[in-house]
Amino acid sequence: MEWTRATRYRPYAKWSARQLLSLQAQAANSPYQMRYHIRPQSGLLNDPNGFSYFNGCYHVFYQAFPFGPVHGMKSWFHLESPDLVHWDNRGLAIEPGPDPDSYDNAGAYSGSAMAIGNQLFLMYTGNHRTDDWVRIPYQCGAWMDADGRVTKWDHYLFKNPAQFSEHFRDPQILKHDGLYYCLLGAQKADDKTGHLDLWKSADLKEWEEVGIVDFGVANAGYMIECPNLVFVDGKAVLVFCPQGLDKQVAAYDNIYPNMYVVGDDFDFVHAKLVNPSPMKNLDDGFDVYASQCFNAPDGTAYAISWVGLPDSTYPTDTENWANCLSQVKELHLVNGHLLQQPVKAMTSLRRSAGEAQVANQTTIVPASNNQYELAVKIAANQQGSLQLAAGEGYHLDLNFDTAAGQLTIDRGPSGASVNADYGTTRQTMLPAGHELFLRVFVDHSLCEIFVNDGAHVFTLRFFAPDQATAIRMSTEGLDYQAHYWPLQQM
Ligand code: FRU
Repeated sequence: MEWTRATRYRPYAKWSARQLLSLQAQAANSPYQMRYHIRPQSGLLNDPNGFSYFNGCYHVFYQAFPFGPVHGMKSWFHLESPDLVHWDNRGLAIEPGPDPDSYDNAGAYSGSAMAIGNQLFLMYTGNHRTDDWVRIPYQCGAWMDADGRVTKWDHYLFKNPAQFSEHFRDPQILKHDGLYYCLLGAQKADDKTGHLDLWKSADLKEWEEVGIVDFGVANAGYMIECPNLVFVDGKAVLVFCPQGLDKQVAAYDNIYPNMYVVGDDFDFVHAKLVNPSPMKNLDDGFDVYASQCFNAPDGTAYAISWVGLPDSTYPTDTENWANCLSQVKELHLVNGHLLQQPVKAMTSLRRSAGEAQVANQTTIVPASNNQYELAVKIAANQQGSLQLAAGEGYHLDLNFDTAAGQLTIDRGPSGASVNADYGTTRQTMLPAGHELFLRVFVDHSLCEIFVNDGAHVFTLRFFAPDQATAIRMSTEGLDYQAHYWPLQQM
């Protein structure tokens, strides 16, 4: 398949059922396929969208190009869950408009959702392209009813005002003091700098710009994508993806980072994060982007991320599918630092058959199913490597030094190379001379490492050969305890 503009933007109805079935089979049968994470049914998945609670369950949607491993004509696919762990596929929810004058004729781009009355309001960016391929970003609305039927609004909500370029998208709908607000990622037309823009509305129909958000970052690169405001333990947290961010402003290793800033509060009237902290990386791994957060009805803050990066390729591209979503993470704040933890229901995936507990040996599990949770406590003042997916000269390396307080993940020796231009290692500093607690989730080609109860998370894809499934410690006589649970498929 040659991915020309014409093939990427072919209307969905022009793809045959046979093509789709064959792509679905390829995605389902891949040895790299995740089994308990949200994954594309076919083709490419990117940002989580519309993460919300409505009609008695949780909802998440994802950006999809169902016809190949490339970014093409995007739609929203829908899933529902009672517990944020077991997700049921509900299929295509927002299909891009079939007509040349549809507001979303070149894709239903990212956005958010809010339960209003007995419906779920979906707000998203209609990626409109004129005949001359000029982009007009229309902010669009749709209702989803309790049966999952989506009805798009006839009119768009608003367009980019003149001060912003065509890069004006990813609306997050919020409610505060009886008004609706919308936070968007934007690029200024004149100097091509990235910003967050805030809008307000009394009725969702008439919108007015409040202004560019002051969140304490003067130079956020050339564009900010996927902004989210979420309230965590009484503080306001802004999560966003700056592109082209100067590494002097904030250090990061991935092509584009997913960052956060914490404020004492958010001033909606003046579009201002109150007393903002410095910017921090949300994830210390290789592949997290476009995280979407929301406050559940009981106030708990949750996040879910795209495990994948823009402008990057992955080894499954040759199998015609790409990417997945992270597990849902519950957010808390300790001393201004975000803690990200697995939700409680994650333990319901544990299977007792095959469960193992091991201490101080080099072999933890001789042959795993590469679909497991592993909890490891490593005593203070130990140095070595925890090796996952080990065998045949390959392993995913978790190198620790609990004397100096250091953890380095090296996916270089794990198998097929992934975006190696951006390095094969990621490192984080930990308290020196302390015990280290790791909760590791492996789902075939996905690994999520929760460090010290979520003080750091490393999320990454790795592509090991089939037979590399052992879990072991590099060195004899290390002082550690490990607990291994095979996990159920979802
Ligand atoms: C981020 C992003 C968004 C956009 C969407 C398109 O990954 O580029 O800004 O809405 O993906 O799929």
